[in-house]
Amino acid sequence: MAEIEGLHAENAEQIEALRIKYLSKKGAISALMNDFRNVAPEQKREIGQKLNALKTAATEKLEALKNQYQQEDHIDDSIDLTRPAYPDEVGTRHPLSLVKQEIIDIFARLGFSIAEGPEVEDDWHVYGALNFADDHPARDMQDTFFIQQNPIVVLRSHTSSVQVRTMGQQKPPIRVVCPGRVYRNEAISARAHCFFHQVEGLYIDKNVSFADLKQVLLQFAREMFGPDTQIRLRPSYFPFTEPSAEMDVSCTLCKGKGCSMCKGSGWLEILGCGMVDPNVLEASGIDSKEYTGYAFGMGVERIANLKYRVKDLRLFSENDQRFLDEFEAAH
Ligand code: DAH
Repeated sequence: MAEIEGLHAENAEQIEALRIKYLSKKGAISALMNDFRNVAPEQKREIGQKLNALKTAATEKLEALKNQYQQEDHIDDSIDLTRPAYPDEVGTRHPLSLVKQEIIDIFARLGFSIAEGPEVEDDWHVYGALNFADDHPARDMQDTFFIQQNPIVVLRSHTSSVQVRTMGQQKPPIRVVCPGRVYRNEAISARAHCFFHQVEGLYIDKNVSFADLKQVLLQFAREMFGPDTQIRLRPSYFPFTEPSAEMDVSCTLCKGKGCSMCKGSGWLEILGCGMVDPNVLEASGIDSKEYTGYAFGMGVERIANLKYRVKDLRLFSENDQRFLDEFEAAH
């Protein structure tokens, strides 16, 4: 009995060894139980009681050792105060949000504020007030998603609609950028999508000239793509600007020498721009004899493609975690 009381163990294996030694089928207590047959009948009662007491004591002792061990184990291993903390899993911002914010930040530093407007629009704000002729092809079902025909309600196909809203609400001087999602009825492929994002800009004041436009766009291009970036403006046509131009930047990959990204030309087209057509100013109640203005518009996906060399537009809207994680370092 004293032997049992004095038992001692330091880990799970030692406890198991004690169990085998005393309590297993071949253990010491079982052996005593087996010998019980040979005890003289008059002693059976006394010895039987002692044997039972011994077995109970051994079982309890082992149980106690186990509990003690488990408690110690608990204290020792499961709270390790020296372990370094798990790093917090932080999310990443979407590449289009990053690029959009970068564009906005550049223009904010140049004095532009942000204007936003609805994605579901009427014909006036998307086309009418912007000098689109009634039969202009952009008004066609092939280019625009119509929600309703009479009166016409569409998903805006450019954020120039927000320029119209701003001109309706504010008096010049007006200096805004209009970021937002736009929709076009295009077959989805690596190079086109039925929705994408734009940032457009509008500046209206007295004596605003094409030279002002050019200087602001040069500043933008250099902040966005690096201080050595060159720009060139090519004559173009938009219903809402006159004159109109398209702007190229020197290729971000080959720096103008000619490579596969710029198809050998050394230039990459990034935006449309021009002087606001007097008809557009007048349509919004701004006196075109007193005020002039410039406007420009760019696709956020286009800029993001050039900055990060994303080859397939669809990646931007598929939410593939592996793609999104690549922009962690761009924050
Ligand atoms: N709205 C044009 C488009 O979606 C882009 C654009 C070109 C916007 C010239 C402008 C501009 O404000 O002046 O393709």
